[in-house]
Amino acid sequence: MVAIYCRHFGQTFDFILAQGVFTHAPQRNIMLCMSEAASCMSPTSLFLATFMEGDHDYEGRDWLYPSVSQYTWRRIREITEAAGLRHVSIAWPHPRSAKWIALSRPEHEPRMRDLVNGLRSPRLCSRAAWGTGLTRSLRRRILGR
Ligand SMILES: C[S@@+](CC[C@H](N)C(=O)[O-])C[C@H]1O[C@@H](n2cnc3c(N)ncnc32)[C@H](O)[C@@H]1O
Repeated sequence: MVAIYCRHFGQTFDFILAQGVFTHAPQRNIMLCMSEAASCMSPTSLFLATFMEGDHDYEGRDWLYPSVSQYTWRRIREITEAAGLRHVSIAWPHPRSAKWIALSRPEHEPRMRDLVNGLRSPRLCSRAAWGTGLTRSLRRRILGR
């Protein structure tokens, strides 16, 4: 996995998506990704990500592919908070049953929670619905476009 240092872009991003990335990554890479994202998020930026929920936390240091690295909700929350962010879970389908989270700066968490709670997820996990549908719905609700 190549480390991407977001701060080198010298700008903030309204929207960041990491679909199918934390699902294969060791903890240190998730931490790096979240903290780099945090460094270029404005107070209202949205960062959508998936992870694979499990009973135990993957403690290895390797990127796993095509197998997956699993984490408890507790550990994902600890990593999120250590990166200076907060997350809310999103009840939205995924073809491999990964969990969706919406990350934001701490001051935006209450608004993020409201927006996510108002989402109406599709019942069917069609390709159009699970990925594009979620990002479009959230972008529109949160960014107004
Ligand atoms: C679950 S897919 C997600 C891809 C993309 N984010 C998406 O939503 O379509 C994981 C991706 O990681 C890529 N990948 C696997 N091993 C990799 C590695 N060692 N370095 C970089 N990319 C890798 C795969 O080719 C695949 O495109």
